Amino acid sequence: MCGIVGYVGPRQAALIVLGGLKKLEYRGYDSAGVAVLHANGGIEVERAVGKLSNLQERLYQKPLVGTIGIGHTRWATHGGVTEFNAHPHVGRNGRVAVVHNGIIENYAELRQEMAAEGISFNSETDTEVAAHLVDGYLAGGADLLTAVQRTLPAIQGASAFVFLSPQEPESLVVARLGNAGGIVIGIGDGEMFVASDIPAILEYTRNVIFLENRQMARVTRAGVAIFTFEGKPVQARVHTIPWDPVSAEKGPYRHFMQKEISEQPRAITDTIRGRVDFHRGRVVLDSVPLTPSEAQKLDRVIIAACGSSYHAGLVGKFMLETLARVPVEVDYGSEFRYRNPLITPTTALLAITQSGETVDTLAAMEAGREYGAKLWSIVNVIGSQAHRLADGYILMQAGLEIGVATTKAFTASLVDLYLLALHLGQLRETLPAEVLRRAVNDLARLPDLVGRVSEPLPIYDELAEIFFKREHFLFLGRGLNYPVALEGALKLKEISYIHAEGYPAGEMKHGPIALIDEVMPVVTVAPRDNVYDKMISQMEQVKARNGTVIGLLQEGDEIARSKADYVLEVPAAPQFLAPVLNIIPLQWLAYAMAVRRGADVDQPRNLAKSVTVE
Ligand code: F6R
Repeated sequence: MCGIVGYVGPRQAALIVLGGLKKLEYRGYDSAGVAVLHANGGIEVERAVGKLSNLQERLYQKPLVGTIGIGHTRWATHGGVTEFNAHPHVGRNGRVAVVHNGIIENYAELRQEMAAEGISFNSETDTEVAAHLVDGYLAGGADLLTAVQRTLPAIQGASAFVFLSPQEPESLVVARLGNAGGIVIGIGDGEMFVASDIPAILEYTRNVIFLENRQMARVTRAGVAIFTFEGKPVQARVHTIPWDPVSAEKGPYRHFMQKEISEQPRAITDTIRGRVDFHRGRVVLDSVPLTPSEAQKLDRVIIAACGSSYHAGLVGKFMLETLARVPVEVDYGSEFRYRNPLITPTTALLAITQSGETVDTLAAMEAGREYGAKLWSIVNVIGSQAHRLADGYILMQAGLEIGVATTKAFTASLVDLYLLALHLGQLRETLPAEVLRRAVNDLARLPDLVGRVSEPLPIYDELAEIFFKREHFLFLGRGLNYPVALEGALKLKEISYIHAEGYPAGEMKHGPIALIDEVMPVVTVAPRDNVYDKMISQMEQVKARNGTVIGLLQEGDEIARSKADYVLEVPAAPQFLAPVLNIIPLQWLAYAMAVRRGADVDQPRNLAKSVTVE
């Protein structure tokens, strides 16, 4: 969580930093702040609680002048949401300012030791200890890089920092310790950028370096010098990011979520492009290198992921077990490492993560590595940790996703899981050629089918108008559509703050049926698939108890329609690709409800796009 930005070059730093923070606001929006080195040699700081617009207003009233600066948008962990706790934090002698993403786990001890030495604190944050430590070394005569290098061994826990010091007015020093989200260094022409995520700097450069764990860098106008924490110089690779800067803008859309739901046909097309040989009827996934014999020896795939990516993993289990005949377990990234899993060198651990920086998912990958598993990832952000840690990966090709609630990355990951299942099926020889050919043809039709549900329809607003005051929703699905029900419920609850539960429809009678009344709407995901009859009887059971059914149904299904009070339609789709279509109307429904309730769609309270704390 938290977004950090730095700039050094000829332009006004505060403006560039503020612009970068705007692109990172999805990472946290409890407070924000900027520090700039003034020409008179002092650090000038401006901070404000709440959205970035509050800080922007302050900077408008009182501009910060200077061409080197740092900024931060906060997702509060240690210390309440106050201006005192907002970053940047300044060291005890005013010799350094710092912005920080992550958690200093031993901050209480460090703080106690410093307090005993008479150092007073201006905030309740963990970050301030780092500012005081670096400041102390600077006061002792160290240069900024050395002061940071001496400070880092004292710090426990995953953290990313950017430091700015009047003692060294030409440089920023950046450090990355563990998996607290990335640090990307953007290379401009006579200017350099630092950020926790690519969108912040995409307007200025697409040439970037990703700082690795336990690396630090001195960034000046002229370039960057990277070192290990031990001081050994590092030759870093420069990546060119293919994303278009326009993708970081809302354009004619009111919200990023609306834009990103609409972008799904293109995201799905890009996800399939180049990975399917339509002529030979085969999937081509060179980025997951595996020989037929390795594939045949696979004893298990463990999928580790969080939130929506976990729901995608539940769909993936169906795909992989059916098509590649390999046992699959799906676990929350946050649970996996606490359960002493059974892993062998012929197990594959598959991480699914849009950001590639979710700390719990990365921890699961590390645990997988320790146990000797093959590491694979399905990941959207190029150069992210989950991309770089993996032995084999599939890049989602969803494009930049900014809305905090994931939409297009979710459907892209479903398609990637399907590609992976077909790839493994080919290698393990579990798929007859005609099944493979049909699957490949189905993929060719998918973008068109997705296009048919990606436009907003009046029914979403009509339903929002009817139901926006309801406090509870139930989502039911079975089989492949049970994870769709979970995801539909998650979308609704996270952006509209309506309590919503996803449930396997067959479990209704074991408890949740007691909740059915005339007030709580029940969304049933009931396309014509192998559990269709069961879903119809579930809808009847809800109706028999005076419940209200919103049926997500196949176009033209008059039987199911007669059991529902309201209907959302999807075109008929092949079995494994149906979840890709079925979730989209539920994304639109959640969006319409959130808009009708006046909620902040792109930045729901308490959430952040990349969850880089445990
Ligand atoms: C929900 C949502 C989250 C993420 C979760 C994992 O809309 O976006 O539940 O899916 O935080 O994030 P990634 O996929 O980046 O690891």
